[in-house]
Amino acid sequence: MNFARLKHATAAEHTRMESLVPLMSATLHQDQYRVVLRRFYEFVHSWEVWSAANAPEDLRPMLLERRRSRLLEADLRYFGEQLPEFHYTPPIQGTPSRAVFLGAMYVIEGSTLGGQYIAGHVEKALGLLPGQGDSYFRGHGDRTGSMWRQFRMVIEEAHDDEAEDVIAGAREMFAAFGEWMRQLKPADSLENETMGAK
Ligand code: HEM
Repeated sequence: MNFARLKHATAAEHTRMESLVPLMSATLHQDQYRVVLRRFYEFVHSWEVWSAANAPEDLRPMLLERRRSRLLEADLRYFGEQLPEFHYTPPIQGTPSRAVFLGAMYVIEGSTLGGQYIAGHVEKALGLLPGQGDSYFRGHGDRTGSMWRQFRMVIEEAHDDEAEDVIAGAREMFAAFGEWMRQLKPADSLENETMGAK
């Protein structure tokens, strides 16, 4: 399928995501960042459990290599946070076709690109050293570009008649992530959640 089509079809969802996640805020402070890390951790961990159970055989090695919830665990530990109690929340309903699965994976993999920008900002705003407290956003580091190109090839190899399902999978995944992140708003809930941190 044509890759640009997937990108354009989900551009509005991506813009919405940027407004839901306060990570590029000029006034980002550590408490807020820690709350976001916990939220990411729960979602990404659920994704890894779900994708391990639902991945097509041929994508499994790629998925294993790209797991990043351990990085979020390390970042939470860096700030002296306990890991949140894990509540499994499947990001996609039902049993996905390979095409729907690819769409969902696109959202997780694509987020490594924005992660590079987020890491730079978070380091500046919170005075962190690269990879210390933001290893999740640094993610695959120098390999980010090559790993992204490798994943893009898998999308491009999908048949044109699967394109609609790939797009539907990506939209459902963006929606699930958005729903999860929306609980960060309004600013009050950030404070409440910080105060109620376990
Ligand atoms: C403040 C939050 C975010 C910012 C500032 C941001 C920024 C960006 C930027 C600049 C790119 C393009 C990078 C490049 O082409 O080199 C990108 C790509 C992407 N991001 Fe984000 N992002 C954010 C959050 C997210 C989240 C939370 C997700 C997923 C849950 C996500 C999913 C994606 C995807 C799928 C792409 C690939 C688009 C494509 O080229 O097809 N982003 N992001």
